[in-house]
Amino acid sequence: MLSPVKKRLRPVEASARGQAEVKFMDVRVYLVERKMGSSRRSFLTRLATSKGFRVEDVLSDEVTHVVAEDYLATQLWAWLQGHGLRDVSKLQVLDISWFTESMRDGRPVTVESRHLIQATSPPLPQCPSPTPVAQVSQYACKRRTTTENHNKMFTDALEVLAESSEFCENEGPCLAFLRSVSVLKSLSFAVGSLKATQGLPCLGEHTKAVMEEILMFGRCFEVEKIQCDERYQALKLFTGVFGVGPKTAEKWYSRGLRSLREILTEPNIKLNKMQRAGFLYYRDISKAVSKAEAKALGRIIEETVHSIVPDAILDLTGGFRRGKEYGHDVDFLLTTPEMGKEKGLLLQGILLYCEHQDSTFDVTKMPSYRFEAMDHFQKCFMILRLAEDQVEGGLQRDLGDTRCWRGVRVDVVVPPVDRYAFTLIGWTGSRMFVRDLRRFARKERQMLFDNHALYDKTKKLFLRATTEEDVFAHLGLEYVEPWQRNA
Ligand code: UTP
Ligand code: MG
Repeated sequence: MLSPVKKRLRPVEASARGQAEVKFMDVRVYLVERKMGSSRRSFLTRLATSKGFRVEDVLSDEVTHVVAEDYLATQLWAWLQGHGLRDVSKLQVLDISWFTESMRDGRPVTVESRHLIQATSPPLPQCPSPTPVAQVSQYACKRRTTTENHNKMFTDALEVLAESSEFCENEGPCLAFLRSVSVLKSLSFAVGSLKATQGLPCLGEHTKAVMEEILMFGRCFEVEKIQCDERYQALKLFTGVFGVGPKTAEKWYSRGLRSLREILTEPNIKLNKMQRAGFLYYRDISKAVSKAEAKALGRIIEETVHSIVPDAILDLTGGFRRGKEYGHDVDFLLTTPEMGKEKGLLLQGILLYCEHQDSTFDVTKMPSYRFEAMDHFQKCFMILRLAEDQVEGGLQRDLGDTRCWRGVRVDVVVPPVDRYAFTLIGWTGSRMFVRDLRRFARKERQMLFDNHALYDKTKKLFLRATTEEDVFAHLGLEYVEPWQRNA
């Protein structure tokens, strides 16, 4: 991985074009218009400048980041080299994915090798794909999905539509959009035309219309309209607070509240304990957690737990186990080799906030039919204090933040060791992968599967599993590695 683009504390400078303040002084972006088209380039330029990026009109030695779309690497490099720049090798020549991720995060994201357009690299694979589309399964658990998403421009838009449907309590359309997102994420090629999607499962008419618009105009007007919608913006803001779900957010919105400040100053609003912590540490926990920060937390929790039970087992799960570089929280599974000993494993001494739920697990109970059912094991939803010197390479820093610590959202679930494999699959996710694993079990194998157990309805018995491989084998599925479960 290349070193991150440094954010330095410098006086804010207004740009020459009189647009938003330039926040990232070390980054000067140049968008290559060829292939991208001038209207899309203008749109992306406006978007970037509104987020504090400096976008240059002209390619000069001042430019640090060149961003191109739908390029042929050899042609692009030939074009760059013919530009008479002092030192082309100093340029970061990047795929549009770096730009869209930076727009999403509101800051220049770390340049990774997958963003780079190498001078010698072949062009992006286009259709026909190495995996024929006819072989793409309707079940996410039968697809292999890494963190590399070749279709981000579509999936970002479709995720907005899914979220908006969720806010309107339209479960059907929400799930349909999430399913199409999942299929597109699994593809090993960038969809360049609607023809390339023929034969793919789960892509409905609405999804295809959105994709077509993006292919034609580089944007989707329906999505842009939603993003400007007052209700959508408010609900997104409110649900971004730890402990606030869509129902509470809707209640606040319908009372005329629009900002977090308004909620905090409204005397009639009573926040629960979780929401109070959510507001108190809002700035910290709305910031992504890095892999280094997650690893540091793993070491701290392990040390604390081992001081109580030396042979306790701790595993990092969630998105980090699937190979993600950043997450919204850090998820751990904790158990002890000896059954029953896991019951006393409560963490003390490092908690800023802890919502502890005791186990309500009933060994005689059938696995749940409901996909979103919470599991019954003992668990802790926490906010932990993570100090600068505990993290390799230090904490991620915001401009102006002089503290030497940050708060991080951490979940710890404690299943008994004989249920560990089921819980490990459930908490590794992704949500869609696990949801489809359960759907596959029920529809194709007449089995019920959840975070606690696997039940064979035909044989009328609970199936035992000590590893994740055992579970896949019971289901008659090829094993899928955690890093291939980013459905
Ligand atoms: P997360 O919401 O943490 O997702 O849940 P994630 O994949 O790690 O994503 P980021 O990076 O934090 O944003 C992790 C997994 O735990 C499961 C979810 O279904 C998800 O797959 N989970 C969560 C449960 O099984 N039970 C719960 O009660 C909560
Ligand atoms: Mg997580």
